[in-house]
Amino acid sequence: MPQGAAVVRMLLALGLLAGAAHAADDIVIADFEGEGYGDWKAEGEAFGPGPARGTLPSQMEVSGFEGKGLVNSFYKGDATTGTLTSPEFKIERRFINFLIGGGMHPDETCINLLVDGKVVRTATGPNDKPGGTERLDGHSWDVGDLAGKTARLQIVDKHTGGWGHINIDQIVQSDRRSGTVETVQDLRIEKDYIVFEMGARQGPRTQVNLVIDGKTVRSTVGSSSEKPCWFTWDVSALKGKSGQLRIAEMPGPDGSCPVRASCTQSDQSKGIVMIVDQLYRETYRPQFHFTPARNWTNDPNGCVFYKGEYHLFFQHNPTGIDWGNMTWGHAVSPDLVHWKQLEHAIHPDKLGTIFSGSAVVDWNNTAGFQTGDEKVIVCIYTSAGDPFTQSIAYSGDRGRTFTKYEKNPVLGHIVGGNRDPKVLWHAPTKKWVMALYLDKNDYALFESPDLKAWTKLCDVVVPGAGECPDFFELPVDGDTKNTRWVFWAANNSYLLGTFDGKTFTKESGPHPSNWGGNCYAAQTWSDVPPADGRRLQIAWMSGGKYPGMPFNQQMSFPTELALRTTPEGIRLTKKPAREIEKVHAKKHAWADKPLKPGENLLAGLEGELFDIRAEIEVGKAAEVGFVLRGQKAAYDVAKKTVSCLGHTAPLAPVEGRIRLQILLDRTSIEVYGNDGLISLPTCFLPDLANRELGVYAEGGEARIRSLEVFALKSAWE
Ligand code: FRU
Repeated sequence: MPQGAAVVRMLLALGLLAGAAHAADDIVIADFEGEGYGDWKAEGEAFGPGPARGTLPSQMEVSGFEGKGLVNSFYKGDATTGTLTSPEFKIERRFINFLIGGGMHPDETCINLLVDGKVVRTATGPNDKPGGTERLDGHSWDVGDLAGKTARLQIVDKHTGGWGHINIDQIVQSDRRSGTVETVQDLRIEKDYIVFEMGARQGPRTQVNLVIDGKTVRSTVGSSSEKPCWFTWDVSALKGKSGQLRIAEMPGPDGSCPVRASCTQSDQSKGIVMIVDQLYRETYRPQFHFTPARNWTNDPNGCVFYKGEYHLFFQHNPTGIDWGNMTWGHAVSPDLVHWKQLEHAIHPDKLGTIFSGSAVVDWNNTAGFQTGDEKVIVCIYTSAGDPFTQSIAYSGDRGRTFTKYEKNPVLGHIVGGNRDPKVLWHAPTKKWVMALYLDKNDYALFESPDLKAWTKLCDVVVPGAGECPDFFELPVDGDTKNTRWVFWAANNSYLLGTFDGKTFTKESGPHPSNWGGNCYAAQTWSDVPPADGRRLQIAWMSGGKYPGMPFNQQMSFPTELALRTTPEGIRLTKKPAREIEKVHAKKHAWADKPLKPGENLLAGLEGELFDIRAEIEVGKAAEVGFVLRGQKAAYDVAKKTVSCLGHTAPLAPVEGRIRLQILLDRTSIEVYGNDGLISLPTCFLPDLANRELGVYAEGGEARIRSLEVFALKSAWE
């Protein structure tokens, strides 16, 4: 950046250049690929009997580690503690490089380098609040000043609450700093555009960020595409301001930083223009998934249908891009696709911030809140104060304004962080039933005649799960005389059983119902009219990335749930709600066509938004699938699995055929198999230079029985 670039501060790059001159071979301290920890010493329980093989039960998907094994102290959940200590080794290289993820609790979830028993370097994971990511990222210590010293590494997990775990992998002594190099450059904005070139397999750890007054106002993330590509930021509105350009990139073998070298201020745009300041048109704004106009969201709350409107309340930080100040945001839709955000519905008060919960229509005015003809919507939520209790608020104007009940809370503190009440009307016994999360893997059911006085009915345990229950009845194979109750937990596992109005009796489970990377805290809509009769659900696609955007996090596309008898027993199925058709645009269809290796029926089809529906006879192929903007949704015929964005689900062909439905939006791919038997909803950051679609077979010929590709319109149009 020639003009106005006062100071160029090369942070980490200096170390890299110093080491690059005469690099000796790397020394692997530990890769955690063995069965046990070898000569490392584990104390306490947190680290389990040996390295984890990826994700542990009820953990969000762990990614970014190398090989199959890693240190993952989520063994038996966050409550366990312990230490894992290496044997002594000599510091023989300039850097110690490793991969790290998990909790950001200094001294409590960390890796320490000890010399003479003293901590000389330490690092934590990146997370300290709900949401976040279980991805491991590269970290490097410059240990040049410690050359020749004898040292130990100690991995520590002393934290028992949220994000009370640490993940580590691939600890290597090296003369080269691994991973990305970050440079920070001061600048004054003098022209209309900033342009730079990225790509060439730089991958998503490459980022260019513009920070002004401590805020990231522009951000572009690298992709794995082969070709480098020019990007433009329109910074005309920021002219005259000073800030920093922060560039993280993978250096070339000679230590050069090509992204930084390409970056200039210009009077002209070049390549892809990043949009950040046109509401709902932003480069990384989902176009048919719900996102708040601005700021953070997590769980869907209070899903209820009343008078032609689906209400979606959501955990919201009204003033920040990250989790905090929990408030119920509010949106309504006539069709589950086109959402209109309303005024925030429920604000924090002296009982606490407003955590997750549910909403119902009080048709019989059991609570006595109804004054006119309009039925009352009652929201039941957690007052997250000290301690956590359960409260209610009501609206007599179709959810446009809410009044908190003056005698809140309606259910006092029971244990721990008890929260997330889900309330339903139990018609046979004419009363309200609440499913509530208590603590650990414990939940309970309560009953009430009026939504105000609650009495405990029974306990429910969902092994491996916590938070955000849901509880509903569904017919098996559409037979309304043969029903089961589903007890649902935030991590998408569920129990099946019966409920007599007093006791939930488990028949089977927990069963998994999600194989994707971003799906949590799903809730179903209450009061969907019987004539419709569907059980509709929406989930938080927890952990997506939206760099430089005015909002953070997105919801899943709503799904329809059902119970189906399978060879393994009764299972829950989940498929996109038919309202996706509301955004269907041009349709392309094929039937009964051979799918030969090397051929692509979809060549020439380009776009960002698609609904793809396919029935494929796998035939002699080893792999069949789709390529969506460079990302594969692949069916492995021998393994009988479908994979997308690093996540895999089992899927057996039926009479030699598989059925797939794929929803592609700007920042997510949702893959459904065999009419909702499996689902893989996962977030991604698209390669902005690639808008291609492909369908392929490898290793032999397959046959397309039917293929429909619907280009989609934006729901914000
Ligand atoms: C789940 C959760 C809930 C809680 C809410 C707070 O993601 O932790 O248990 O009510 O988020 O935002």
